[in-house]
Amino acid sequence: MADRIYVLLEGGKNRTSLETVLRKERLRWEIQLFEAPEEFLHTHRHSPCSLAMADVDNRSGSGLLTHLKEESPGVIRVAMADQFSLHSFLESTPVAHQCLARPFESRAPVRLMDRALRLREELGQRQWDQLFLGDDGLPMIPRLYTRLVCVLASRDPDLDEVTSLIQEDPGICARILRVVNSAYFGLRRELTTVREAVVFLGTRILQELVLSEEVFRLFSVPTAVENIVNELQEHSRRTAAFGMKFFPRRPEGIYLAGVLHEIGTMKVLSASSRDGEPTLDLPDADTRARMTSTLLSLWGITPMIAEAIAHHLTPHRCPKGASDLTAALHLSEELSRQGVSSVIQDLHRGSQLQEEFLESSPVISRPLNWYRTQTLGGS
Ligand SMILES: [Fe+2]
Repeated sequence: MADRIYVLLEGGKNRTSLETVLRKERLRWEIQLFEAPEEFLHTHRHSPCSLAMADVDNRSGSGLLTHLKEESPGVIRVAMADQFSLHSFLESTPVAHQCLARPFESRAPVRLMDRALRLREELGQRQWDQLFLGDDGLPMIPRLYTRLVCVLASRDPDLDEVTSLIQEDPGICARILRVVNSAYFGLRRELTTVREAVVFLGTRILQELVLSEEVFRLFSVPTAVENIVNELQEHSRRTAAFGMKFFPRRPEGIYLAGVLHEIGTMKVLSASSRDGEPTLDLPDADTRARMTSTLLSLWGITPMIAEAIAHHLTPHRCPKGASDLTAALHLSEELSRQGVSSVIQDLHRGSQLQEEFLESSPVISRPLNWYRTQTLGGS
């Protein structure tokens, strides 16, 4: 049966162009456009949709997504708005898995729908129910990161706007200043303002830092697993740091891949421990890596990173051949696990360094030799 997609375009705004694009997809999806949220909900209750897209330039659209979040948390929710109103919407109502800021290229909604529905099918087929557990269903893309992406996507991003956006979050400000003044960058003079840090880092690293910091706050972590989740965060940061440090030709995306690679594990741990002790039947590490990858793909994180995370524990089995990023993440993860607690070791049980595979990668051979001197005492 074809997936149902319902779109709320109140008042017919931008309806014509979007309708033209969507009409061409009617053979593969059952698409309906609505002008009133009541009509949308009435239809959804009789014939539930898999994906809901709503224009959130007005209260009705954001109200509809909020309602759907409570009533049908398994439905993928996409917010669509002019750039400016999307900022205010996301600030007040965190209800969307993905956001589409106007102006967008005409086929952008179709590509988003296609990707999201394929991921949803994958989630359903594999019965990854634990990712859906909790009040919010699937975790939603972090808000500050989304707003930053929207601001930076404009033709002429305003530095003051970027700075004031970052300044709204003292925790992220502190983290950015700590990173920018760390030994890694080797600055002669300490940078003391967020504006200076933003100029110095540039937009890509800034986005990565904001996402990596914000993503760790996504789940309400029950006390029973607080320590494990903290250790996982530390392990993730160490993985990212090893990735940045040990590869002379650093693969693009290694920092973010390292920081994000355990998000699925954190979500599953948080969801399955709500009422006390953590459950003992967590999915294995490789399955959790694929869960993480699927979650990140749903958020629209670049496929290169999502794919590297999916295959980083078993790069030798990657059907299309593993990328340099996958290989780098594989080794960084192994390095990060050296000397950590038995809990983290336990969570990665069964994962082994694929040395034969790594030897075939020119990007990895030097760090691999270093790793061997460390573990074999230089023999
Ligand atoms: Fe890991």
